[in-house]
Amino acid sequence: MLYRTLPGTELQLPAIGLGCWALGGEHWGDDVDDASSLALIEGARERGVDLFDTAPLYGHGHADALLRRALGGTRHEVVIATKVGVRWDTPDGHPRSDLSPAHVVADCEASLVRLGLDVIPLLQTHWPCEGGTPLAATLEALEGLRQAGKVRAYGLCNAPPADLDEALALAPIASLQTPYSMIRRDFEAALRGRCGALGADGRWQQRLGVLAYEALGRGLLTGKFAAAPAFPESDMRRHDPRFREPAWSTLRPLREALRICAARVEVPPAALAIAWVLRQPGVSVALVGAKRLAQLDEDLRALEVIGRARVFEALAPFVARARP
Ligand SMILES: NC(=O)c1ccc[n+]([C@@H]2O[C@H](COP(=O)([O-])OP(=O)(O)OC[C@H]3O[C@@H](n4cnc5c(N)ncnc54)[C@H](OP(=O)(O)O)[C@@H]3O)[C@@H](O)[C@H]2O)c1
Repeated sequence: MLYRTLPGTELQLPAIGLGCWALGGEHWGDDVDDASSLALIEGARERGVDLFDTAPLYGHGHADALLRRALGGTRHEVVIATKVGVRWDTPDGHPRSDLSPAHVVADCEASLVRLGLDVIPLLQTHWPCEGGTPLAATLEALEGLRQAGKVRAYGLCNAPPADLDEALALAPIASLQTPYSMIRRDFEAALRGRCGALGADGRWQQRLGVLAYEALGRGLLTGKFAAAPAFPESDMRRHDPRFREPAWSTLRPLREALRICAARVEVPPAALAIAWVLRQPGVSVALVGAKRLAQLDEDLRALEVIGRARVFEALAPFVARARP
């Protein structure tokens, strides 16, 4: 495993972390089952994937319960990154972000109990507040949790540039979790320069950790779909325009180039898509949403090809033209 240190902390993160959203059993179709999820978590651990990204929202606590069950006592030795803020006890039942200090503290306490931890290694705000709480007040609550020893480090997910600037000015935030893939590259223009910079020695200096999600484009970059897939109603990708025309055809040259290049270096296309993300300046970790151990084994092969510059040179023009 390749490790990356989260700047300003003692946290060592494996370059590939397991995203646990699908394991919650909602929004990702009908083929998620607890037995496979438990085997996946145990297998991840055996393979050095010591970073698990979860959230109270993932199955309303179910992903957390599976993590606790599968990891057992080793849950204290790995990095569990979880989130705060999203409530689902809303009048219309739609999840909503509440980053008021009281809710941040209550949500964190509930996660500590559910995960069976004394301290949460990395706590992230799930998405920006929709309840009017100033970011400064949220950060003060997170810093209070850190100083009370309930959280080792904290960061933001899905932060727009202005929030990231404000947070960097006000608090020792350790991380940003954000979407980034060959087909979703807003990070480059909007956020990367805030997360690090090229040093005088020409080397990239990371200012805070960046955990990239959707490295696989929700499966679109794995090469497994010969035609636009028909997802069941239980799978949110049914409503994702990238899996429908016109984006499906627009992205065909990239999918085809991935398939050909992956065959040339003898790894699955998923491995190339993840390695592409890990090669980008500013990225610390790619979170991958494998559902089964066989998928994770394919995804981990990214580590074999990170250094294969020529294959990424061959892919570059296709990535440049891939705008869904
Ligand atoms: N902070 C946030 O707001 C936020 C938002 C989104 C995600 N995340 C995090 O990021 C994690 C990853 O999710 P994501 O949305 O970014 O999705 P992703 O990793 O781009 O794609 C995940 C999907 O790809 C498919 N897959 C994975 N490996 C594969 C392989 N080797 N071959 C074929 N298919 C494969 C699986 O779905 P199928 O088998 O069903 O096709 C899987 O569910 C989440 O679990 C979560 O931890 C966080």
